[in-house]
Amino acid sequence: MRSGLTLGIETSCDETAAAVVQDGTKILSNVVLSQIDIHRKYGGVVPEIASRKHIEAMFPVIHEALEEARVSLADIEVIAVTYGPGLVGSLLVGIAAAKSLAYALGKPLVGVNHIEGHIYANFLEREDLTPPFVCLTVSGGHTDLLLIPELGSYEILGRTRDDAAGEAFDKIARVLGLPYPGGPQIEQVARGGNREAYEFPRGLSEEGNFDFSFSGLKTAALNRLNQAQQKGEEINLADFAASFQWAIVDVLTTKLLAAARKHAVRKIVLSGGVAANSAFRTHVQECATQAGLEVWYPPACLCTDNAAMIASAGYFRHRAGRSSGWELNALPNLRLGDD
Ligand code: KG4
Ligand code: ZN
Repeated sequence: MRSGLTLGIETSCDETAAAVVQDGTKILSNVVLSQIDIHRKYGGVVPEIASRKHIEAMFPVIHEALEEARVSLADIEVIAVTYGPGLVGSLLVGIAAAKSLAYALGKPLVGVNHIEGHIYANFLEREDLTPPFVCLTVSGGHTDLLLIPELGSYEILGRTRDDAAGEAFDKIARVLGLPYPGGPQIEQVARGGNREAYEFPRGLSEEGNFDFSFSGLKTAALNRLNQAQQKGEEINLADFAASFQWAIVDVLTTKLLAAARKHAVRKIVLSGGVAANSAFRTHVQECATQAGLEVWYPPACLCTDNAAMIASAGYFRHRAGRSSGWELNALPNLRLGDD
């Protein structure tokens, strides 16, 4: 029997996921069942359908995670589950499953903030990352720039005032006729495109401002497409996608490095679905190397939603004595530092 095993459960959006992680860092299994094919025909996630699909998939996915890890439920020491932010109906499915298992087995239950989970993806399969660091969490619902002086402590330096970066990718991809989720599609189309071909604005670019805004960029992109349509001008899709992607990558990277400079921190960390973008990773790496900073980002498959990151965050939370009670409930608008 192995010790230090955490079962992680994640159902905040459209992925039903379960994972077994040892000592918060070693992945024994990481099962992610995506509902993307079901939601794609609606152009985005339909909450009601997502909850129903989670109910169907939850226990088979947990079973698969245990089997793949070659452990039984009795070997599990901690049960960690995402309790926010996310879709309330989806979150409730994971929480109900986690509570019933924890109660039946007499194991501790740990509620995990999904955003905190994304950050902890950086601790999986590596142990060399230690605070202090600045971290940018960029996903479909969040764009948060954080200073992390010590584990479990978060100082919010800035966040988006409107759309999240991933949301901007998804919305413009949809207008371009690309399937959901749009980020990976835009990345693919942008390969070989000229990122200077179309000029797009950078929101809130004054020095010292660590908030983000992507609504101006989104409007500019839509206007440019409409203008081309009215004039019968052909848009070069690769150039357009590359320029749009570059506008996001440029502003994210500039603010991330400025935050590291301002707070005299030598380490920068990326997390969340948009951190899977290779143009973003490459640009951050290049700028950081020039500035003499160290960079961490998880492998692409651990940037997007998964339960291994939830197990990791849950394990460290439990070790810090921060387990949850049976009153644990879904908090769709949970923010980092709220709990
Ligand atoms: O973290 P995540 O899986 O779910 C949320 O917590 O939201 O992030 C999903 C978001 C979507 O908006 C998706 O388009 C974006 O991350 N994304 C990407 C890439 N892969 C996923 N954006 C840009 N480039 C990518 N390669
Ligand atoms: Zn996420």
